[in-house]
Amino acid sequence: TIERTFSIIKPDAVAKNVIGQIYNRFETAGLKIVASKMLHLSQEQAEGFYAEHKERPFYAPLVEFMTSGPIMVQVLEGENAIARNREIMGATNPEEALAGTIRADLAGSMRENCAHGSDSIASASREIAYFFSDDEICPRTR
Ligand code: CMP
Repeated sequence: TIERTFSIIKPDAVAKNVIGQIYNRFETAGLKIVASKMLHLSQEQAEGFYAEHKERPFYAPLVEFMTSGPIMVQVLEGENAIARNREIMGATNPEEALAGTIRADLAGSMRENCAHGSDSIASASREIAYFFSDDEICPRTR
């Protein structure tokens, strides 16, 4: 089935100047970008986005990292987009990520791991709505 998923290119990847290289990986894998923008998250936006991790020891440094510079947020559309995007990203820990994935090739650490992707249909709809209004999403008919 055709799904939509939410994706972030994190501050480490924007700083490394690999936005285009990551977009190329999405497109090569058959995912279409149907919404996209650059943002510099506020503390409140980052805390709210990662609220489910509030009790984790990595929460405060994660919020600090995610507010450290601009990010790209995008909605990706395609066949099995949620799982497909997670395959392209590779495991959260770059040392465990398969060769050829974004995190294996570009990420420096478990925290500074270049990209985020929704892990389920429920989180995809929550995360898309957190950053995009309906009129910012452009259905692709050709
Ligand atoms: P993400 O997919 O954005 O979701 C939560 C983020 O927390 C994750 O990617 C990593 O950037 C970070 N993270 C998850 N686990 C750890 C960990 N054990 N140590 C540090 N950062 C982590």
